[in-house]
Amino acid sequence: MTSSSRPVPGIDPTRIPRHVACVMDGNGRWAEERGLRRTDGHAAGEEALFDTVEGALDLGLGWLTVYAFSTENWKRPIDEVRFLMNFNERILVGHRDDLAAKGVRIRFLGRRDRRVPRRLVKVMDETTAMTAGNRGMTLNIAFNYGGRAEIVDAVAAMMRSGVSADKVTEAALRRHLYTPDMPDPDLVVRTSGEYRISNFLLWELAYSELVFTDLYWPDFRREHLFDAVREYQARDRRFGGLRDIDRPG
Ligand code: IPE
Ligand code: IPE
Ligand code: MG
Repeated sequence: MTSSSRPVPGIDPTRIPRHVACVMDGNGRWAEERGLRRTDGHAAGEEALFDTVEGALDLGLGWLTVYAFSTENWKRPIDEVRFLMNFNERILVGHRDDLAAKGVRIRFLGRRDRRVPRRLVKVMDETTAMTAGNRGMTLNIAFNYGGRAEIVDAVAAMMRSGVSADKVTEAALRRHLYTPDMPDPDLVVRTSGEYRISNFLLWELAYSELVFTDLYWPDFRREHLFDAVREYQARDRRFGGLRDIDRPG
């Protein structure tokens, strides 16, 4: 628990997950079911995201990671991609002061390739810099992120730094991931009734608990995060051993 956290009924404050990751899926279907444009669904996801962030602060989470744009999402129609680029810039500018005031440190996971508009890269860098000294929750935004790309980038970084084959270990690879100091997610929540990982945090999810909900992302609120944490707390994590304490590392 942190100073800003509060007790939530049915949740044991001594067993809060350190890190929760969300696949924010179903915006397009939410919109289509209402006769709206897919982009209206993305816009409606803003309230879901920031209510979830508030819920994470209520719980006193150390880390929250959200999947905002994958390395495969470039396959979408150009208008949707363009909307998402502008939208992400707008919500960062709109929310970063408030998040900074709440002690949130914001980071981005993903590739900075040339397809990401320069203005957005600038806003991402400014946001990281302005919140770097914060000691509350870390909000990771996975943007132009792919789990395979992250592993490939880690291998390339290891080779560039001259790590020899006999020094290639799990710990060495981890040190070359995008955010080496990040604990693995304890809990992953995916909305929209899809039961897949879609290239999210492939290395880091090795022993995460997975919770799926049929809700579309725009309908997701902090109560649903709390439900997922209650489900998480009812699980028995064994990490290949026989008891919950057989945690690796
Ligand atoms: C998630 O919603 C947001 C992004 C992938 C950017 P979708 O846009 O994937 O919505 P569905 O899955 O098509 O309903
Ligand atoms: C995963 O959702 C990516 C994000 C939520 C950003 P997708 O909608 O892209 O995944 P698939 O295509 O259903 O696997
Ligand atoms: Mg989707």
